[in-house]
Amino acid sequence: MRKIHINASRNYDILIGRNLLPDTGSYLRSVCQPKRVCVISDDIVFPLYGGAVAKSLEEAGFEVSQFIFPNGEPSKTLSTVSQIFDFLTEKHFTRSDLLVALGGGVVGDLAGFAAACYLRGIKFIQIPTTFLAQIDSSVGGKTGVDIPGGKNLVGAFWQPSLVLCDINTLSTLPQETFADGTAEAVKYGLIYDEHLFDLFRQHLLEEHLFDVVYRCIEIKKEVVEQDEYDTGLRMILNFGHTLGHAIEKSYHYTGITHGHAVAVGMALICDACAAQGLIKPEDAAAVRATLESYGLPVSVPLDTKTLCGMCGSDKKMDGDTLNLIVLDRIGKASVEKMSLAGLAKFMGVEG
Ligand code: NAD
Ligand code: GLY
Repeated sequence: MRKIHINASRNYDILIGRNLLPDTGSYLRSVCQPKRVCVISDDIVFPLYGGAVAKSLEEAGFEVSQFIFPNGEPSKTLSTVSQIFDFLTEKHFTRSDLLVALGGGVVGDLAGFAAACYLRGIKFIQIPTTFLAQIDSSVGGKTGVDIPGGKNLVGAFWQPSLVLCDINTLSTLPQETFADGTAEAVKYGLIYDEHLFDLFRQHLLEEHLFDVVYRCIEIKKEVVEQDEYDTGLRMILNFGHTLGHAIEKSYHYTGITHGHAVAVGMALICDACAAQGLIKPEDAAAVRATLESYGLPVSVPLDTKTLCGMCGSDKKMDGDTLNLIVLDRIGKASVEKMSLAGLAKFMGVEG
């Protein structure tokens, strides 16, 4: 097992290993002493892993209850959060009790947001079970829900007390869901580590899965420790996400997953960066080929001009200014401030 420590407004450890779930109770006991613990999970993950987690928590002496909701992005709403609040009050949860988020990014974002708000904040831990959640959403304390106006538009920064990253849980992921995580992993290579991108380019992810998870979390640590509240450097983690979020919105958050939309967003931005002379055309082509080799899409049947117009509700807007993440080269990203019209120009679809 390996450990990464995060220094933030609440400090916490991320434990990365295999077969950690049967020891959840003792890992939790080592960081806090709640009386009651509520495992929040979805209806696919809980039947797979909920039993092992609940048993271990009970054996460690916690009073355990569980809140299970239908899997998928459509559940990431204020309505589900409200149901969680009702459940916690029925079970008499107090400020010293704790939530366990067991699942992918949807579970982590929802449970984390419920933890941030319930009684003005109770502790929670993350047990991410998707590749995407292990390398990205469980680290850094962004929690939240989608509202009709857009994705993740309501949320809070609320750091977990512990993250248990059990690589064995990835073995049950559908190939498409695994690919969602691959998109975010490729993102880390593109914005921060050209050697990591080379590994994907050579199609060596599966052989090096443990090390890739570790390296991606290490990169996320380096970024979020410098900018916990997303006012500067952390924005580079949004690479490919501005257009990706517009694509997800066009599909009403159901026809395309987050990771797949981000893959298309990255391919489109890389092409634009090449057209603007920021990166070499062959690098943009390598990004497309690499994403496609992992079964990820690099285009959608949507007009780029329309997508650019939809970026006005992006969270990274600052007044009328958009913070677009561009590549200076493979392995290094920067934030470019521009208007929506500037975005259309950058993407080559103005007028
Ligand atoms: P998800 O949570 O919907 O999980 C995808 C599917 O995989 C679901 O059907 C789930 O039930 C299933 N699943 C989960 N673990 C499994 C396992 N081990 N075996 C079999 N099936 C399993 O999606 P996701 O891709 O994990 O997360 C996407 C969400 O994360 C989006 O809402 C996105 O906005 C959010 N996100 C948040 C952050 C952040 O910093 N907070 C970062 C990136 C993405
Ligand atoms: N996933 C983007 C961030 O954590 O900032």
